[in-house]
Amino acid sequence: DERAGQERFDQIIAEDSRIEPRDWMPEGYRKTLVRQISQHAHSEIIGMQPEANWITRAPSLKRKMILMAKVQDEAGHGLYLYSAAETLGTSRDKMVQDLLDGKAKYSSIFNYPTLTWADVGAIGWLVDGAAIQNQVPLCRASYAPYGRAMVRVCKEESFHQRQGWEILYELSNGTPEQKAMAQDAVNRFYGPALQMFGPPDDDSPNSKQSMAWNIKRHSNDELRQRFVDMIVPQAEALGLTLPDPDLKWNEERGHYDFGELDWDEFMSVIKGNGPCNVQRLQHRREAHENGAWVREAAAAYAEKQARRNQD
Ligand code: ACO
Repeated sequence: DERAGQERFDQIIAEDSRIEPRDWMPEGYRKTLVRQISQHAHSEIIGMQPEANWITRAPSLKRKMILMAKVQDEAGHGLYLYSAAETLGTSRDKMVQDLLDGKAKYSSIFNYPTLTWADVGAIGWLVDGAAIQNQVPLCRASYAPYGRAMVRVCKEESFHQRQGWEILYELSNGTPEQKAMAQDAVNRFYGPALQMFGPPDDDSPNSKQSMAWNIKRHSNDELRQRFVDMIVPQAEALGLTLPDPDLKWNEERGHYDFGELDWDEFMSVIKGNGPCNVQRLQHRREAHENGAWVREAAAAYAEKQARRNQD
């Protein structure tokens, strides 16, 4: 019954152990997980677009193959995550429909355009770098299917981050024009990448409960700080600068101080008014419609197999 279920759930959380789909869980826990995991899945799927924009224009065959593989990895991440969310009792069709109807959120970062080849490098280094910082702790999320999906996702993201780093390194050590292109990409992606961690802790309505449930292990600001501390030396090694005049080492805190981010812009992007929101959703709707025949064929085939197995 409900009381025994709640007690068992509380015990599992207190022991820092894991909840499986068959276990009783509070409705709020189920809801927040469907919310976070589906948003995460949508981010992976929408996130394919800015980079796919450069597949046909990658500067060599090798770069094109690497980028294609990377974009396919993101599709795979979306699929594991939809599967993890489905174990909570919400169908993938419903989640996808909410995205197509503009009702579901996805990461703000994917509403910015990729203007040059260097942006592919900046996305790998900064965006995938931020994703890893956020997602490594999620490997220990209390909901087991989510944690398990995150393990593989993080391994692949590490490779993605290195390929981004390597693109920027080549450009930064190339011609002055190439170096300027790399710097411009970093200038545009730095702020939005830091905003991937979510609003400041004081404006983060979900953090407290998600941390109490061992879904989130660190607050948005904690992860953002760790990320800044990690990328400052990496930027130096790249020979590039980060576009923040307030960025400086704070001996007392043992961390880098950094300037306030543009939270009005963040809110506006989340509300649908970023530079590419309309385009991203439009493109996803078209891809969904164009893929209808594949879904129909797969369903017909599955039905035929099931009938055969009955005979
Ligand atoms: N972009 C869009 N929406 C965001 C962002 C962002 N960068 N950050 C926060 N939000 C939304 C939250 O989803 C929440 O909206 P909701 O209540 O309507 O669902 C609202 O802003 C308030 O934020 P928080 O209370 O801080 O929300 P939460 O506790 O869920 O923390 C976070 C946000 C850190 C993004 C968390 O959901 C998370 O870790 N998600 C998993 C990782 C993820 O989704 N990554 C996607 C990008 S990485 C990639 O795809 C390569």
